[in-house]
Amino acid sequence: MEVVIVPDAEAGGELIAEAIAALLRRKPEALLGVATGSTPLPIYQALTAKVREGAVDASKARIAQLDEYVGLPQGHPESYRSVVLREVVEPLGLTEESFLGPDGTAEDVQAACDEYDKALAWAGGVDLQLLGIGTDGHIGFNEPCSSLASRTRIKTLTQQTRVDNARFFAGDITQVPHHVITQGIGTILDARHLVLLATGEGKADAVAATVEGPVASVVPASALQLHRHATVVVDEAAASKLK
Ligand code: F6R
Repeated sequence: MEVVIVPDAEAGGELIAEAIAALLRRKPEALLGVATGSTPLPIYQALTAKVREGAVDASKARIAQLDEYVGLPQGHPESYRSVVLREVVEPLGLTEESFLGPDGTAEDVQAACDEYDKALAWAGGVDLQLLGIGTDGHIGFNEPCSSLASRTRIKTLTQQTRVDNARFFAGDITQVPHHVITQGIGTILDARHLVLLATGEGKADAVAATVEGPVASVVPASALQLHRHATVVVDEAAASKLK
């Protein structure tokens, strides 16, 4: 695992956007796995700027979603499908055709999960998977004690994650779904390159446990230690508890 410490979130976004641009120059049709939440926004902004300046052509890129709430109505502004379309697909000038995601409205949720794992494999696998990290060490929505071999499946969010995410629902925790579909840790580890960005002091304990602790399902992000090409980009605040 490679750890890169950057001064701030903007620098982290720029660094990772350049890594994505380099991938797209090498492989224009690369499948980019994207996370939602606040952390990756500087990446998407920096990448969009590169596309608009003509520094990289993203027109053949394909985008895959990491996770999704279960039960939000189609088109809900906080469904992760809506967020990824708004923050990534549209700014990059792509269309829904280039986008893969699990169906959080499916009646048979487990079938939707299995279909998504198959769709990722059919698409040739994720080339670069962007990850954020929860304050409890989750990646995707693999909460603590998720199996390190897990595949895409339904999970129940912890109270901590629902509290953390209430800000996307006008601070009203009752609006935050209890269930999600998430790529499993095993699914995430299938990607060719994992890039985790963590910013802010609130992530410092989770980052220290991920990078310096044992590989353990109680800290799902520690599974990155098992991957042959994992990059952890942290700002100084998130790095503050590294030895
Ligand atoms: C969301 C996801 C989550 C977030 C994590 C951190 O797609 O995969 O693991 O990355 O909850 O969220 P933020 O960045 O909002 O702190």
